[in-house]
Amino acid sequence: MRPARLLAKMLLTTTILLVRAATLQSASATTTARVRADSMSLQDPVARLQARLDAGDIILAHDSVLGYLPAVLRAFNIPTSSQSLVFSRTSLRTDLIAPWSPRALYFSDDVYVGWVQGSEFLEIAAVNPTAGAVFYTMSQEAAARPQFGRESTTCMMCHKSRATGGVPGFLMLSTIADRLGYQIASVYSGTTTDATPIKDRFGGWYVTGSHGSAGHSGNVYSSKDFHQVDKELYRGQIDLTVESARTDLAGKFDSSPYLSPNSDIVALMVLVHQTSVHNLITATHEAARIALIMHYAPSDATALIPLAVSDAGLHTAVERLVRALLFADEAKFDSPIHGAEKFLTEFTQRGLRDKQGRSLRDFDLQQRLFKYPLSFLIYTEGFDALPNVAKDGVYRRLRAILSGDDKNRAFERLNDGDRRAIFEILIATKPEFTAGDPHLRRSSDGRAH
Ligand code: HEC
Repeated sequence: MRPARLLAKMLLTTTILLVRAATLQSASATTTARVRADSMSLQDPVARLQARLDAGDIILAHDSVLGYLPAVLRAFNIPTSSQSLVFSRTSLRTDLIAPWSPRALYFSDDVYVGWVQGSEFLEIAAVNPTAGAVFYTMSQEAAARPQFGRESTTCMMCHKSRATGGVPGFLMLSTIADRLGYQIASVYSGTTTDATPIKDRFGGWYVTGSHGSAGHSGNVYSSKDFHQVDKELYRGQIDLTVESARTDLAGKFDSSPYLSPNSDIVALMVLVHQTSVHNLITATHEAARIALIMHYAPSDATALIPLAVSDAGLHTAVERLVRALLFADEAKFDSPIHGAEKFLTEFTQRGLRDKQGRSLRDFDLQQRLFKYPLSFLIYTEGFDALPNVAKDGVYRRLRAILSGDDKNRAFERLNDGDRRAIFEILIATKPEFTAGDPHLRRSSDGRAH
């Protein structure tokens, strides 16, 4: 059955499960639009890959067990070390996901691929620089010309909700699951972000690696069924941090069909960061668009810079984004984080570096996630595509904070050395950052301060 028809059928039969959390917004239609590459704007990585497939520039190999998964990951340059395993039945395939059959997610900076054992299709989400998250499925049946089918309502039931900040976006939840993977309660309400305490993260996920004695909420499911317990009381009765130091998942499930035996803690930390910050970038994009309409500016190009300051909605969105980009509210690490070498290396080596070899992708993992806490998402198309009124606002705030002119306590965790290092890395690697400031342009040889 084609993914579109299958999805419609599944939605009818699983409505009760889907109308679950407050994260869902009401939507009754189950229409699924299949849009061919020739009618898509080629703005997102999936549409661009489809165009290459249609032109015969690239062929996706089909694997008898994993279908198109390995080939799709290769085509998007997504490392298998990013594999993150979730066993709670919190997403679309509530019928197939379970502690003995977790869903595997793989990601790069702007594409996410979901694989569920036994599923007839891959689930793909990508960042469209102007529209936020866009969703696709690809049939796992071998085909002469594999197609990514664009999905709309089916995925947006959850992926455009309160948990994504109201924009088409990405999700990451932390739940107490029962032994079958059904959600009993949330460990932490809403989507997991950098501000979520680490001990409360990853409920419903498998995690390899460790966060010292303080732990995390991964790897644990209840022995009780969700209908046997009083949800509110149960939260306090189960210690979710007891399996925080697993370096392998042997005994939990059969990992042989998976591309990696791991669900690495550092990959999961990065997943938390990027899913939530992608959503904030999209929210800022929407706030800018609304501001431009409200102020009757005919186009972004002619909008005046002070608009960013005068419009309350846009101002709030920019400030929230800047805080997230600078990890201002990042949860404290109670102990160092230890993950697998492979993800660390593969993630880090993609970084743009300044003359001193420093990159925003360098990890710290002792007291915080990154050594130079400014999000690497600043290099993505999604950030670059922000309307100028918003992007100039972000750059202006970054310049003020990183130069030390802004002493706002919200950013007090950045010491002078951090600010200087990030400032210098940006000047060396993000030409647009210096473009709006003649003084910085002159000093873009690295002598910023
Ligand atoms: C019932 C709610 C629900 C529906 C419907 C849904 N998802 Fe998700 N999705 C989630 C949740 C929750 C997560 C976070 C991981 C998890 O809990 O499995 C997620 C995560 C993802 C991810 C990983 C990136 C991220 O946001 O974390 C991809 C890719 C994805 N979904 C694709 C899809 C596609 C494609 C569709 C539609 C065909 C879809 N999803 C429909 C709930 C849903």
